[in-house]
Amino acid sequence: MPRARRYLVCGPRHFDVRYAINPWMREDAQVDTARAARQWQALIDTYRDHGHQVQTVPPVPGLPDMVFAANCALTLSGKVFGSRFHAPQRRPESAEYETWFKAAGYDVYRPESPCEGEGDLVPAGRYILAGTGFRTTREAHAEVQEFFGVPTIGLRLVDPYFYHLDTALFVVDAAPETEGGEGATIAYYPEAFSAGSREVLRRLFPDALLATRDDAMAFGLNSVSDGRHVFISPGATGLIDQLTARGYVPVPVDLSEFHKAGGGIKCCTQEIRS
Ligand code: ARG
Repeated sequence: MPRARRYLVCGPRHFDVRYAINPWMREDAQVDTARAARQWQALIDTYRDHGHQVQTVPPVPGLPDMVFAANCALTLSGKVFGSRFHAPQRRPESAEYETWFKAAGYDVYRPESPCEGEGDLVPAGRYILAGTGFRTTREAHAEVQEFFGVPTIGLRLVDPYFYHLDTALFVVDAAPETEGGEGATIAYYPEAFSAGSREVLRRLFPDALLATRDDAMAFGLNSVSDGRHVFISPGATGLIDQLTARGYVPVPVDLSEFHKAGGGIKCCTQEIRS
């Protein structure tokens, strides 16, 4: 069943590719900024059309990746775990989002170790899944577990194209934390993970949807689900078929201009879980 969500986003007014901190980014990339703006607006309109609430953080000049709202915090049960970026170019974003959260009445925990919010931290039923290998550190996972008191499962990413956990895995369906103990349905691309992490995922989520490399390269795992509708990149055709076969409703949204920066639908979306 779909559940109405609250999403935090940041407009793409200053979005561009100005530096390269992942293999998708090329210094000579040509971003069509008008097209990016249209694609982003279509995502927001689609969320609203499906009954979700969308709130915005003001974009800041000189922060071309600030549009990727997912990276700036993880908010669970009304508690905000902020960010500390690996790349110096993105570090100022943390304070901008912190300002927004404080004005909205939240305290923000500042991690001591590099941690890129929902980019690497994915609440999945009774666990928080936590990526490491490129950005967020194991030390940050320990901080996350201590802060939320939720078992935090570290997963090692090994393919630089899938440098954030949210490029390799998403939650299709999860019972709210309050229902406790309930499992979650996830989708992931196994080869993005180390052998041990793959085995952990197989044990915890035996019914997961497994994506192909083509689906993963099309940003199909950088999706947002409300429990019924799955906002997904139209290029992830194999995954779209699998979701349909399981009774979900894929809603294609094209963010191809953002793929040039290594981002997609989920990267542009932070969920505020009150
Ligand atoms: N250019 C950004 C970076 O490399 C893209 C971030 C994408 N966000 C995400 N949640 N995967 O940091």
